[in-house]
Amino acid sequence: MASKSMAFFQVLISSIFLLVFPRCSCEVYDDVAKLKQCRFNAIYNFGASLSDTGNQIIEIPQVWSTKLPYGQTIHKVTGRSSDGLLIIDYIAKSAGLPLLEPYLKYQNATSFLSHGVNFAVGGSTVLSTKFLAEKNISNDHVKSPLHVQLEWLDKYLQGYCHDAKDCQEKLASSLFTTFAGGNDYGTAFSQNKTLEEVKNSLVPECVETLKHVVKKFIHHGARRVLVHGLPPSGCAPLFLTKFSSNNSAAYDGFGCLKSYNDLYNYHNDRLKEAIEELKKEYPHVDIVYGDLYKAMQWIMDNSRQLGFKSVTKACCGPKSEYNFIDNFHKMCGAPNIPVCEKPKQYVYWDSGHWTQNANKHLAKWLIRDIFPKFHCKQV
Ligand SMILES: *[C@@H]1O[C@H](CO)[C@@H](O)[C@H](O)[C@H]1NC(C)=O
Ligand SMILES: *[C@@H]1O[C@H](CO)[C@@H](O)[C@H](O)[C@H]1NC(C)=O
Ligand SMILES: *[C@@H]1O[C@H](CO)[C@@H](O)[C@H](O)[C@H]1NC(C)=O
Ligand SMILES: *[C@@H]1O[C@H](CO)[C@@H](O)[C@H](O)[C@H]1NC(C)=O
Repeated sequence: MASKSMAFFQVLISSIFLLVFPRCSCEVYDDVAKLKQCRFNAIYNFGASLSDTGNQIIEIPQVWSTKLPYGQTIHKVTGRSSDGLLIIDYIAKSAGLPLLEPYLKYQNATSFLSHGVNFAVGGSTVLSTKFLAEKNISNDHVKSPLHVQLEWLDKYLQGYCHDAKDCQEKLASSLFTTFAGGNDYGTAFSQNKTLEEVKNSLVPECVETLKHVVKKFIHHGARRVLVHGLPPSGCAPLFLTKFSSNNSAAYDGFGCLKSYNDLYNYHNDRLKEAIEELKKEYPHVDIVYGDLYKAMQWIMDNSRQLGFKSVTKACCGPKSEYNFIDNFHKMCGAPNIPVCEKPKQYVYWDSGHWTQNANKHLAKWLIRDIFPKFHCKQV
C-alpha cells in the first residue's frame, strides 16, 4: 500500500513537473560532471579566441576583450571573448579540473600548472605567417600561430617531465584539445580572397597542419585527443555584415550565409577524413572529432525552447542589423558601445563569439557527443 501510494505520488509529482516545465525535444541530459569518469589528470588546449582564457590580452594588451563588458556575467575581465565562460571551461568543469590558466601568465613557472595549460591565443591561425604570405595573405599581427603554441608545449614539457618516458606516463591520462582553423579563412576573406581560392589553396594545408599537430601530441604521449571542427560562421554577425548579399537565395532558413557555411562544412569533412586516417595509424589513441557545427545547428533548431531570442545578432555592439560595424572603434568593448539587457537570450555575444549561455549549451551537447568516444569507464 505504502509503495503504491508512493508510486502514485511520484506520478503526480512528475505530471505537475511536466505541466510546469514542459519537456522539450531539445533536452540534453544535464549530467554536468560526466567527463569526471574519464579521470583526465590535465587538459592541454590549443587554438584561438573561442578557447583563449587570457593569452591574447598579455600578448596584445590593446584588444577590447581586456575591458568590460567582456566578462560581465562572471564579474571579471579575463581575456575570454564572451560575457562569461567558454566551452573549454565547461569541459574542464565536467572533467572535475580547475579552469585552464593561460600559458603566457606563467611561462617562467609552468611546472606549477599540473592540471593543464591553455596555449590558445585569440586571433591565431593554424597556418604559419610565412605560408599565408606566400598566398598573398598578410598575417603579421598574429604572433602565435599553432606552430608557436607547439613550441610552448615543448618548453612546458621540458619543465614538467623528467624525461621522455616520464612525459609518456604523465600525458597518457591527459586530454589534448584544439579549437582552431577559423581565423585562417576569416583573414583570407577579409583580404578579398574568394571562397574558391580559400577552398583550394588553404583548406588542404590547414587540415594537414592539424593532422601534424595531433601527431605531435601523440609523440609526446597523448592518448586522448579532441579536435574541434569549425562552427557555421556564416551565421556570425561579422560574416553577415561584411558579406551581406541582396540575393535572398544566398541565405538559409536561419538567415545564415549558405556559401560560407558550405566552406566550413567542406573543411570539417576533410578534417573528419584526416581523423579517420590518424585513427588507423594510431589505434591505441582515442582521437575524437568535436562537432561544433552540429552543436550550433542543435542550438539554432531549438533556440526558442532554449530561451534564445536572437540567433544571429550580437548582444554587444552598435545598433545595426546584426549589431556589428566593421570599425575598430565601434566594436564591443570600445567606449559607449551598447550591450543587450539579457545576454542569456543571445547566441552571439559579439561579432564572432558566443555568450556564456550559448557556450554552456554547446558544451553540454559536445560533452554528450564525445563522452562515449573516449571509452571512459563507469566509476
Ligand atoms: C619570462 O622570462 C623572460 C626571460 O627569460 C622574460 O622576458 C619575460 O618577461 C618573463 N615573463 C613573465 C610573464 O614573467
Ligand atoms: C601575389 O601577388 C603578386 C603581386 O600582386 C602576384 O604577382 C602573385 O601572383 C600573387 N600570388 C598569389 C599566390 O596569389
Ligand atoms: C579588398 O577590396 C576592397 C574593396 O574593393 C579594397 O578597398 C581593399 O583594398 C581590398 N583589400 C585587399 C587586401 O586587397
Ligand atoms: C544591395 O542593394 C542596395 C540598393 O539597391 C545597394 O545600395 C547595396 O550596395 C547592395 N548590396 C550588395 C551587397 O550588393
